Amino acid sequence: MKKPKIVAIVGSLRKDSFNRQLALLAREAVGNRADFELLEYADVPMMNEDMEFPPPEPVRRVRQVVASADGIWFFTPEYNHFFPGVLKNLIDWLSRPAEPGGGQVLDGKPAAISGASLGMSGTGLAQDHLVTLISFLNMKVMNFPRLTIPDVWKQLDDRKKLKLSDSATFLQKQVDAFLAFLQNNQ
Ligand SMILES: Cc1cc2nc3c(=O)[nH]c(=O)nc-3n(C[C@H](O)[C@H](O)[C@H](O)COP(=O)(O)O)c2cc1C
Repeated sequence: MKKPKIVAIVGSLRKDSFNRQLALLAREAVGNRADFELLEYADVPMMNEDMEFPPPEPVRRVRQVVASADGIWFFTPEYNHFFPGVLKNLIDWLSRPAEPGGGQVLDGKPAAISGASLGMSGTGLAQDHLVTLISFLNMKVMNFPRLTIPDVWKQLDDRKKLKLSDSATFLQKQVDAFLAFLQNNQ
């Protein structure tokens, strides 16, 4: 198989987001075994069917990046036991065709899910909701292993940056599993 391309989608727009930092640590752990791109989507507007066709430029761009991926890796925070609205908005755009009657870019894509939260759930509840949504959109979800990081404040360095301790081996295991999953779902 050629080197796979992973596109990471972080469900937080926060500059110092722990989930964004987790995605960057995942990129490091992947190393040169795959291309790894973080999807930037802060400029995607709120879904409004009045502006669907032709799609706004940021929507066209994110669809193109997602279409180019062999797999999508979600890194989601948990907001009120759900995944954040910005992520739902992005997925709603991605779930729609570029022109009426066309296909959508998430269809059949392998997906991995990870998340870090300040609370005890470690984003497990948010992840379950995300699985429901992306399964409906016919993504191939790698349900095991998923990575949940509770009490993320316990895994920071003295500058308050994410420095995985307890979760480091689990991230490594998820990286290895997702690379194998991509190979088996070409
Ligand atoms: C609107 C909102 C709701 C939240 N709800 C939860 C929650 O249900 N469970 C939890 O563990 N943390 C919750 N948090 C705290 C997040 O875990 C914390 O803000 C985390 O750092 C967000 O992820 P990020 O660092 O990637 O932005 C919530 C935060 C916000 C802003």
